[in-house]
Amino acid sequence: MSEELFEPHNIIVTGGCGFIGSNFVRWVAENHPECHVTVLDKLTYAGNPDNIAGLPESQVELVVGDVCDAALLDRLVPGHDAIVHYAAESHNDNSILDPEPFVQTNVVGTYRLLQAARKHDVRYHHISTDEVYGDLALDEPRRFRPDDPYKPSSPYSSTKASSDLLVRAWHRTYGVRATISNCSNNYGPYQHVEKFIPRQITSILCGIRPKLYGDGRNVRDWIHTEDHSRAVWDILTKGHMGETYLIGADGEKDNIHVLQAILERMGQPADAFDWVRDRPGHDRRYAIDPTKLETELGWKPIHTDFSEGLDQTVEWYRSHEDWWRPAKEATEKKYAAQGQ
Ligand code: NAD
Ligand code: TYD
Repeated sequence: MSEELFEPHNIIVTGGCGFIGSNFVRWVAENHPECHVTVLDKLTYAGNPDNIAGLPESQVELVVGDVCDAALLDRLVPGHDAIVHYAAESHNDNSILDPEPFVQTNVVGTYRLLQAARKHDVRYHHISTDEVYGDLALDEPRRFRPDDPYKPSSPYSSTKASSDLLVRAWHRTYGVRATISNCSNNYGPYQHVEKFIPRQITSILCGIRPKLYGDGRNVRDWIHTEDHSRAVWDILTKGHMGETYLIGADGEKDNIHVLQAILERMGQPADAFDWVRDRPGHDRRYAIDPTKLETELGWKPIHTDFSEGLDQTVEWYRSHEDWWRPAKEATEKKYAAQGQ
Protein backbone atom coordinates (compact mmCIF):
# COMPACT_ATOMS: atom_id res chain seq x y z
CA MET A 1 0.00 0.00 0.00
CA SER A 2 1.43 3.38 -0.93
CA GLU A 3 1.62 6.19 1.62
CA GLU A 4 -1.13 8.82 1.15
CA LEU A 5 0.11 11.92 2.98
CA PHE A 6 -2.40 14.64 3.79
CA GLU A 7 -1.60 18.10 5.19
CA PRO A 8 -4.67 19.55 6.92
CA HIS A 9 -4.94 23.36 7.02
CA ASN A 10 -8.58 24.01 7.88
CA ILE A 11 -10.49 21.24 9.64
CA ILE A 12 -13.92 20.84 11.23
CA VAL A 13 -13.88 19.01 14.55
CA THR A 14 -17.37 17.94 15.57
CA GLY A 15 -17.92 17.44 19.30
CA GLY A 16 -14.88 19.60 20.01
CA CYS A 17 -16.37 20.83 23.30
CA GLY A 18 -16.67 17.30 24.72
CA PHE A 19 -14.05 15.31 26.62
CA ILE A 20 -11.98 13.69 23.85
CA GLY A 21 -12.78 16.17 21.07
CA SER A 22 -11.61 19.11 23.19
CA ASN A 23 -8.38 17.29 24.02
CA PHE A 24 -7.80 16.90 20.27
CA VAL A 25 -8.53 20.60 19.63
CA ARG A 26 -6.12 21.67 22.39
CA TRP A 27 -3.50 19.21 21.10
CA VAL A 28 -3.79 20.54 17.50
CA ALA A 29 -3.64 24.15 18.73
CA GLU A 30 -0.43 23.39 20.60
CA ASN A 31 1.29 21.12 18.09
CA HIS A 32 0.01 22.32 14.69
CA PRO A 33 -0.44 26.11 14.74
CA GLU A 34 -0.62 26.01 10.92
CA CYS A 35 -3.98 24.18 11.09
CA HIS A 36 -7.19 26.17 11.66
CA VAL A 37 -9.93 24.36 13.60
CA THR A 38 -13.67 25.01 13.34
CA VAL A 39 -15.39 23.27 16.24
CA LEU A 40 -18.97 22.25 15.47
CA ASP A 41 -20.75 21.38 18.70
CA LYS A 42 -24.38 21.36 19.81
CA LEU A 43 -23.37 21.97 23.46
CA THR A 44 -25.49 19.19 24.92
CA TYR A 45 -25.21 18.38 28.64
CA ALA A 46 -21.75 16.90 27.75
CA GLY A 47 -20.40 19.88 25.79
CA ASN A 48 -18.70 22.75 27.58
CA PRO A 49 -17.11 25.71 25.74
CA ASP A 50 -14.76 26.17 28.73
CA ASN A 51 -12.99 23.01 27.52
CA ILE A 52 -11.50 25.01 24.64
CA ALA A 53 -11.35 28.42 26.32
CA GLY A 54 -8.15 30.43 26.01
CA LEU A 55 -7.03 28.98 22.66
CA PRO A 56 -5.98 31.56 20.03
CA GLU A 57 -9.10 33.01 18.38
CA SER A 58 -7.26 33.21 15.07
CA GLN A 59 -6.83 29.42 15.14
CA VAL A 60 -9.90 27.96 16.86
CA GLU A 61 -13.49 29.01 16.16
CA LEU A 62 -16.62 27.59 17.79
CA VAL A 63 -19.82 27.14 15.78
CA VAL A 64 -22.74 26.04 17.93
CA GLY A 65 -24.90 23.67 15.90
CA ASP A 66 -26.15 20.16 15.31
CA VAL A 67 -24.37 17.63 13.09
CA CYS A 68 -27.84 16.52 11.93
CA ASP A 69 -28.49 19.97 10.40
CA ALA A 70 -27.90 19.43 6.66
CA ALA A 71 -28.42 23.11 5.75
CA LEU A 72 -25.84 24.20 8.32
CA LEU A 73 -23.34 21.62 7.02
CA ASP A 74 -23.91 22.87 3.48
CA ARG A 75 -22.89 26.36 4.58
CA LEU A 76 -20.06 25.30 6.89
CA VAL A 77 -18.19 22.53 5.09
CA PRO A 78 -17.07 24.33 1.86
CA GLY A 79 -13.59 25.82 2.35
CA HIS A 80 -12.57 23.17 4.88
CA ASP A 81 -10.28 20.32 3.92
CA ALA A 82 -11.32 17.70 6.49
CA ILE A 83 -13.99 16.70 8.99
CA VAL A 84 -12.91 14.87 12.15
CA HIS A 85 -16.12 13.53 13.63
CA TYR A 86 -16.13 13.13 17.44
CA ALA A 87 -19.66 14.34 18.22
CA ALA A 88 -21.84 11.65 19.71
CA GLU A 89 -24.09 10.66 22.52
CA SER A 90 -21.39 8.74 24.35
CA HIS A 91 -22.64 7.16 27.58
CA ASN A 92 -23.87 3.55 27.74
CA ASP A 93 -26.06 4.04 30.82
CA ASN A 94 -27.89 6.95 29.17
CA SER A 95 -28.44 4.89 26.03
CA ILE A 96 -30.16 2.18 28.06
CA LEU A 97 -32.55 4.73 29.59
CA ASP A 98 -33.32 6.55 26.32
CA PRO A 99 -31.82 5.34 23.01
CA GLU A 100 -33.55 7.96 20.82
CA PRO A 101 -30.87 10.71 20.88
CA PHE A 102 -28.24 8.02 20.21
CA VAL A 103 -29.95 6.94 17.00
CA GLN A 104 -30.42 10.56 15.97
CA THR A 105 -26.96 11.99 16.68
CA ASN A 106 -24.80 8.91 16.16
CA VAL A 107 -26.51 7.42 13.10
CA VAL A 108 -28.37 10.28 11.38
CA GLY A 109 -25.63 12.78 12.30
CA THR A 110 -22.94 10.60 10.74
CA TYR A 111 -25.08 10.12 7.63
CA ARG A 112 -25.47 13.91 7.23
CA LEU A 113 -21.73 14.50 7.66
CA LEU A 114 -20.89 11.79 5.14
CA GLN A 115 -23.27 13.35 2.63
CA ALA A 116 -21.60 16.72 3.19
CA ALA A 117 -18.10 15.19 2.86
CA ARG A 118 -19.20 13.55 -0.38
CA LYS A 119 -20.84 16.66 -1.84
CA HIS A 120 -17.95 19.00 -0.98
CA ASP A 121 -15.18 16.42 -1.48
CA VAL A 122 -13.48 16.73 1.90
CA ARG A 123 -11.43 14.16 3.80
CA TYR A 124 -13.43 12.49 6.60
CA HIS A 125 -12.12 10.81 9.75
CA HIS A 126 -14.56 8.92 11.94
CA ILE A 127 -14.01 8.50 15.68
CA SER A 128 -15.42 5.26 17.00
CA THR A 129 -15.10 2.82 19.86
CA ASP A 130 -13.82 -0.71 20.45
CA GLU A 131 -17.30 -1.47 21.83
CA VAL A 132 -18.52 -2.15 18.27
CA TYR A 133 -16.75 -5.54 18.54
CA GLY A 134 -18.83 -6.64 21.55
CA ASP A 135 -16.91 -8.12 24.46
CA LEU A 136 -14.32 -10.77 25.32
CA ALA A 137 -14.22 -13.35 28.11
CA LEU A 138 -11.88 -12.60 31.02
CA ASP A 139 -9.68 -15.63 30.28
CA GLU A 140 -9.63 -15.28 26.45
CA PRO A 141 -6.12 -14.61 25.06
CA ARG A 142 -7.61 -12.86 21.98
CA ARG A 143 -7.73 -9.06 21.67
CA PHE A 144 -9.83 -7.05 19.18
CA ARG A 145 -8.41 -6.70 15.68
CA PRO A 146 -9.66 -4.39 12.89
CA ASP A 147 -11.30 -7.13 10.80
CA ASP A 148 -13.18 -8.79 13.68
CA PRO A 149 -16.95 -9.06 13.20
CA TYR A 150 -19.14 -6.34 14.70
CA LYS A 151 -21.20 -7.59 17.70
CA PRO A 152 -22.32 -4.50 19.65
CA SER A 153 -24.23 -5.09 22.90
CA SER A 154 -25.77 -1.77 23.96
CA PRO A 155 -27.90 0.88 22.27
CA TYR A 156 -24.78 3.14 22.41
CA SER A 157 -22.40 0.66 20.80
CA SER A 158 -24.96 -0.47 18.21
CA THR A 159 -25.43 3.12 17.02
CA LYS A 160 -21.63 3.57 16.84
CA ALA A 161 -21.39 0.30 14.87
CA SER A 162 -24.13 1.53 12.51
CA SER A 163 -22.25 4.77 11.92
CA ASP A 164 -19.01 2.88 11.17
CA LEU A 165 -20.82 0.79 8.58
CA LEU A 166 -22.16 3.94 6.90
CA VAL A 167 -18.58 5.24 6.65
CA ARG A 168 -17.36 1.98 5.08
CA ALA A 169 -20.20 2.09 2.53
CA TRP A 170 -19.72 5.79 1.66
CA HIS A 171 -16.05 5.11 1.04
CA ARG A 172 -16.64 2.08 -1.14
CA THR A 173 -19.69 3.29 -3.09
CA TYR A 174 -19.07 7.04 -3.37
CA GLY A 175 -15.31 7.15 -2.93
CA VAL A 176 -15.42 9.40 0.15
CA ARG A 177 -11.83 9.73 1.42
CA ALA A 178 -12.55 8.21 4.79
CA THR A 179 -10.79 6.45 7.66
CA ILE A 180 -12.14 5.03 10.94
CA SER A 181 -10.50 4.65 14.33
CA ASN A 182 -11.86 2.53 17.15
CA CYS A 183 -10.34 3.44 20.50
CA SER A 184 -10.54 1.86 23.93
CA ASN A 185 -11.66 3.62 27.16
CA ASN A 186 -10.10 7.08 27.56
CA TYR A 187 -9.19 8.80 30.81
CA GLY A 188 -7.75 12.21 31.67
CA PRO A 189 -8.92 15.77 32.43
CA TYR A 190 -12.27 17.23 31.26
CA GLN A 191 -14.12 13.89 31.28
CA HIS A 192 -17.78 14.23 32.28
CA VAL A 193 -18.63 13.15 35.85
CA GLU A 194 -21.05 10.49 34.55
CA LYS A 195 -18.10 8.29 33.44
CA PHE A 196 -16.43 5.75 35.76
CA ILE A 197 -13.13 7.40 36.78
CA PRO A 198 -14.37 11.01 37.20
CA ARG A 199 -17.54 9.81 38.90
CA GLN A 200 -15.57 8.01 41.60
CA ILE A 201 -13.01 10.81 42.11
CA THR A 202 -15.65 13.54 42.39
CA SER A 203 -17.87 11.38 44.61
CA ILE A 204 -15.01 10.96 47.08
CA LEU A 205 -14.39 14.71 46.95
CA CYS A 206 -18.10 15.24 47.79
CA GLY A 207 -18.20 12.65 50.57
CA ILE A 208 -20.33 10.23 48.49
CA ARG A 209 -19.36 6.53 48.49
CA PRO A 210 -18.22 5.33 45.02
CA LYS A 211 -20.45 2.80 43.25
CA LEU A 212 -19.24 -0.40 41.63
CA TYR A 213 -21.43 -2.32 39.16
CA GLY A 214 -21.91 -6.10 39.26
CA ASP A 215 -18.93 -8.06 40.59
CA GLY A 216 -16.40 -5.30 39.73
CA ARG A 217 -14.34 -7.67 37.57
CA ASN A 218 -15.25 -6.15 34.18
CA VAL A 219 -12.09 -5.16 32.33
CA ARG A 220 -11.52 -1.93 30.39
CA ASP A 221 -8.39 -1.17 28.32
CA TRP A 222 -7.46 2.33 29.54
CA ILE A 223 -5.66 4.88 27.35
CA HIS A 224 -4.75 8.48 28.16
CA THR A 225 -6.80 10.80 25.96
CA GLU A 226 -3.68 12.62 24.72
CA ASP A 227 -2.36 9.36 23.23
CA HIS A 228 -5.73 9.03 21.49
CA SER A 229 -5.38 12.55 20.03
CA ARG A 230 -1.86 11.83 18.72
CA ALA A 231 -3.12 8.65 17.07
CA VAL A 232 -6.02 10.47 15.39
CA TRP A 233 -3.61 13.04 13.93
CA ASP A 234 -1.39 10.24 12.58
CA ILE A 235 -4.38 8.52 10.97
CA LEU A 236 -5.74 11.79 9.55
CA THR A 237 -2.40 12.68 7.96
CA LYS A 238 -0.89 9.26 7.11
CA GLY A 239 -3.77 6.76 7.17
CA HIS A 240 -4.81 4.72 4.16
CA MET A 241 -8.23 5.48 2.70
CA GLY A 242 -11.02 3.07 3.63
CA GLU A 243 -8.98 1.58 6.48
CA THR A 244 -9.89 0.95 10.10
CA TYR A 245 -7.28 1.52 12.85
CA LEU A 246 -7.61 0.28 16.42
CA ILE A 247 -6.17 2.57 19.11
CA GLY A 248 -5.16 1.06 22.45
CA ALA A 249 -2.24 1.26 24.88
CA ASP A 250 -2.07 -2.18 26.57
CA GLY A 251 -3.97 -0.75 29.53
CA GLU A 252 -6.23 -3.63 30.61
CA LYS A 253 -7.47 -3.32 34.21
CA ASP A 254 -10.51 -4.53 36.06
CA ASN A 255 -12.88 -1.98 37.59
CA ILE A 256 -12.31 -2.94 41.21
CA HIS A 257 -8.55 -2.40 40.87
CA VAL A 258 -9.04 0.98 39.25
CA LEU A 259 -11.47 2.00 42.00
CA GLN A 260 -9.14 0.81 44.75
CA ALA A 261 -6.24 2.70 43.15
CA ILE A 262 -8.39 5.87 43.30
CA LEU A 263 -9.44 5.19 46.92
CA GLU A 264 -5.81 4.66 47.96
CA ARG A 265 -4.66 7.90 46.30
CA MET A 266 -7.43 9.80 48.01
CA GLY A 267 -6.70 8.44 51.49
CA GLN A 268 -9.75 6.15 51.69
CA PRO A 269 -9.94 2.51 52.89
CA ALA A 270 -10.00 -0.11 50.10
CA ASP A 271 -13.60 -1.12 50.97
CA ALA A 272 -15.05 2.41 51.12
CA PHE A 273 -17.49 1.88 48.24
CA ASP A 274 -20.94 0.39 47.57
CA TRP A 275 -21.79 -2.51 45.29
CA VAL A 276 -24.74 -1.54 43.10
CA ARG A 277 -26.88 -3.38 40.57
CA ASP A 278 -25.16 -4.34 37.35
CA ARG A 279 -25.65 -2.53 34.03
CA PRO A 280 -28.04 -4.55 31.79
CA GLY A 281 -26.04 -6.26 29.02
CA HIS A 282 -22.77 -5.13 30.69
CA ASP A 283 -19.79 -5.98 28.44
CA ARG A 284 -17.27 -8.15 30.31
CA ARG A 285 -13.95 -7.19 28.81
CA TYR A 286 -12.47 -4.98 26.08
CA ALA A 287 -8.90 -5.35 24.82
CA ILE A 288 -7.24 -3.79 21.76
CA ASP A 289 -4.48 -5.19 19.57
CA PRO A 290 -2.88 -1.95 18.26
CA THR A 291 -0.33 -3.70 15.98
CA LYS A 292 -1.67 -2.21 12.72
CA LEU A 293 -1.46 1.38 13.99
CA GLU A 294 2.01 0.80 15.42
CA THR A 295 3.51 -0.97 12.41
CA GLU A 296 1.80 0.96 9.56
CA LEU A 297 1.84 4.46 11.02
CA GLY A 298 4.57 4.27 13.68
CA TRP A 299 2.32 5.43 16.56
CA LYS A 300 3.24 4.51 20.15
CA PRO A 301 1.59 5.64 23.38
CA ILE A 302 3.55 8.09 25.56
CA HIS A 303 1.44 7.89 28.73
CA THR A 304 2.26 4.26 29.50
CA ASP A 305 2.30 4.63 33.31
CA PHE A 306 -1.37 4.36 34.34
CA SER A 307 -0.49 5.06 37.95
CA GLU A 308 1.10 8.40 37.04
CA GLY A 309 -1.79 9.26 34.69
CA LEU A 310 -4.29 8.52 37.46
CA ASP A 311 -2.35 10.74 39.92
CA GLN A 312 -2.55 13.62 37.43
CA THR A 313 -6.24 12.97 36.77
CA VAL A 314 -7.11 12.95 40.50
CA GLU A 315 -5.12 16.17 40.90
CA TRP A 316 -6.95 17.79 37.96
CA TYR A 317 -10.38 17.07 39.49
CA ARG A 318 -9.17 18.26 42.91
CA SER A 319 -8.13 21.60 41.42
CA HIS A 320 -11.05 22.05 38.97
CA GLU A 321 -14.11 21.79 41.19
CA ASP A 322 -15.65 24.82 39.44
CA TRP A 323 -15.60 22.80 36.23
CA TRP A 324 -17.30 19.61 37.48
CA ARG A 325 -19.48 20.81 40.37
CA PRO A 326 -22.40 22.14 38.24
CA ALA A 327 -22.99 18.67 36.67
CA LYS A 328 -22.45 16.51 39.75
CA GLU A 329 -25.78 16.73 41.57
CA ALA A 330 -27.98 16.08 38.52
CA THR A 331 -25.75 13.18 37.44
CA GLU A 332 -25.97 11.48 40.85
CA LYS A 333 -29.74 12.05 40.97
CA LYS A 334 -30.11 10.27 37.65
CA TYR A 335 -27.95 7.34 38.81
CA ALA A 336 -29.84 7.09 42.12
CA ALA A 337 -33.13 6.78 40.23
CA GLN A 338 -31.67 3.73 38.43
CA GLY A 339 -30.34 2.15 41.65
CA GLN A 340 -26.77 2.91 40.58
P1 NAD B 1 -18.61 13.45 25.27
O1 NAD B 1 -19.98 12.99 25.62
O2 NAD B 1 -17.71 13.96 26.35
O3 NAD B 1 -18.72 14.66 24.20
C1 NAD B 1 -19.58 14.60 23.10
C2 NAD B 1 -19.60 16.01 22.46
O4 NAD B 1 -20.44 15.93 21.29
C3 NAD B 1 -20.18 17.09 23.36
O5 NAD B 1 -19.40 18.25 23.27
C4 NAD B 1 -21.57 17.33 22.79
O6 NAD B 1 -22.07 18.64 23.02
C5 NAD B 1 -21.35 17.04 21.31
N1 NAD B 1 -22.58 16.63 20.61
C6 NAD B 1 -23.47 15.67 21.00
N2 NAD B 1 -24.46 15.58 20.10
C7 NAD B 1 -24.19 16.49 19.10
C8 NAD B 1 -24.84 16.86 17.91
N3 NAD B 1 -25.99 16.29 17.53
N4 NAD B 1 -24.26 17.81 17.13
C9 NAD B 1 -23.10 18.42 17.51
N5 NAD B 1 -22.46 18.11 18.65
C10 NAD B 1 -22.99 17.16 19.44
O7 NAD B 1 -17.94 12.28 24.45
P2 NAD B 1 -16.44 11.72 24.47
O8 NAD B 1 -16.30 10.77 25.59
O9 NAD B 1 -15.52 12.87 24.34
O10 NAD B 1 -16.44 10.88 23.12
C11 NAD B 1 -16.13 11.51 21.86
C12 NAD B 1 -16.15 10.48 20.76
O11 NAD B 1 -15.20 9.44 21.06
C13 NAD B 1 -17.48 9.77 20.59
O12 NAD B 1 -17.70 9.57 19.20
C14 NAD B 1 -17.30 8.43 21.30
O13 NAD B 1 -18.12 7.43 20.74
C15 NAD B 1 -15.83 8.17 21.02
N6 NAD B 1 -15.12 7.31 21.99
C16 NAD B 1 -15.19 7.59 23.33
C17 NAD B 1 -14.46 6.81 24.23
C18 NAD B 1 -14.44 7.13 25.72
O14 NAD B 1 -13.72 6.45 26.48
N7 NAD B 1 -15.15 8.15 26.18
C19 NAD B 1 -13.69 5.74 23.76
C20 NAD B 1 -13.65 5.47 22.37
C21 NAD B 1 -14.37 6.28 21.51
P1 TYD C 1 -17.94 3.84 31.66
O1 TYD C 1 -17.01 4.92 32.11
O2 TYD C 1 -19.40 4.13 31.62
O3 TYD C 1 -17.40 3.39 30.23
P2 TYD C 1 -17.88 2.15 29.26
O4 TYD C 1 -19.23 1.73 29.63
O5 TYD C 1 -17.87 2.81 27.92
O6 TYD C 1 -16.83 1.11 29.39
O7 TYD C 1 -17.73 2.57 32.59
C1 TYD C 1 -16.48 1.91 32.69
C2 TYD C 1 -16.69 0.65 33.51
O8 TYD C 1 -17.02 1.01 34.86
C3 TYD C 1 -17.84 -0.21 33.04
O9 TYD C 1 -17.48 -1.59 33.22
C4 TYD C 1 -18.99 0.14 33.96
C5 TYD C 1 -18.29 0.45 35.26
N1 TYD C 1 -18.90 1.46 36.15
C6 TYD C 1 -19.04 1.18 37.54
O10 TYD C 1 -18.71 0.09 38.03
N2 TYD C 1 -19.54 2.16 38.35
C7 TYD C 1 -19.92 3.39 37.85
O11 TYD C 1 -20.36 4.26 38.65
C8 TYD C 1 -19.78 3.64 36.45
C9 TYD C 1 -20.20 4.98 35.87
C10 TYD C 1 -19.25 2.66 35.63
